[in-house]
Amino acid sequence: MKPVKVGLLGLGTVGTGVVRILQGFQEDLSSQVGSPIEISRVAVKNSEKTRSIDIAREVLTTDPWEVIRDPEVDVIVEVMGGVGITKDYILEALERGKHIVTANKDLMALHGTEILAKAQEKQCDVFYEASVAGGIPIIRTLIEGFSSDRIVKIMGIVNGTTNYILTKMSQEGASYDDVLQEAQALGYAEADPTSDVEGLDAARKMAILGTLGFRTNVELTDVSVSGISGVTRQDIQFAKRLGYEIKLLGIAECHNEEFSISVQPTLIRASHPLASVSGVFNAVYVFGEAVGETMFYGAGAGEMPTATSVVADLVAVIKNLKLGVNGLKQIVPYKQKKLKSDEQ
Ligand code: HSE
Repeated sequence: MKPVKVGLLGLGTVGTGVVRILQGFQEDLSSQVGSPIEISRVAVKNSEKTRSIDIAREVLTTDPWEVIRDPEVDVIVEVMGGVGITKDYILEALERGKHIVTANKDLMALHGTEILAKAQEKQCDVFYEASVAGGIPIIRTLIEGFSSDRIVKIMGIVNGTTNYILTKMSQEGASYDDVLQEAQALGYAEADPTSDVEGLDAARKMAILGTLGFRTNVELTDVSVSGISGVTRQDIQFAKRLGYEIKLLGIAECHNEEFSISVQPTLIRASHPLASVSGVFNAVYVFGEAVGETMFYGAGAGEMPTATSVVADLVAVIKNLKLGVNGLKQIVPYKQKKLKSDEQ
């Protein structure tokens, strides 16, 4: 049977995980989609590098445009990150009728509306499950699982680096600076950890969750942000004595067509399920008018958890491609809701 050809942009941590899953679970994945899945082109920074995975040298290129312009490639999997040129790659791939799977929260939070509009015009899929909370399938849950409900509140621990730092400060009395270095060494922090510790990474993820949960367009500028760099050991120990933990929480609420979204260090009762989410783990609490409380927990980053979401998207895209349909996006434009003003 003719294989589905995948062009991979990026072969770092997540890209390596994607190759591992596609190779390791090939038989199961192929039987789900009805044909083999072949990684036919891969854009890398350095094609000479020694890698821990078995990938043929001739599929590698250092020019992402070669992958985008390859007429054989059906689906582009973007795990290279960035928002400037990466947006151009994605828009050009869509222009050429290629479907997209991306793990890029920055791209989707900043340019999601434009990218999804182009996808709609070209009748292509853009799936981005891995962009928020790594291995937790929260995006398809918000779009599909809660399509029957009206979500009024989403609270998320969606940044593993800051949760790791706050956990170590709380459980071991460690200092902020020491734990930040450890988190960087573990490979969870962004290249510039400022976006983790100042809450910007979480804000981008919350803008995506708010958009999907409240079925409106949340801009990054709608999210009020404050990070954890000012949180001290004393703050945390004091909170503990009062029966609270301090967590960097994304809090999104929507009532009467008005929404508010913030990311800030928040006191949370030690008995709340979010308070016990420790280390680099993520969790998203969703309150729906009909369903009530739900919570989703898992690894928010890392090679294999994030790759699981990427490959699940790939499977969904290929199934759609075979059925000749597009899926997992709104079929009517989002209704505009008002950002709740502070005065009210
Ligand atoms: N820097 C991010 C985090 C990586 O710490 O959660 C996953 O998006």
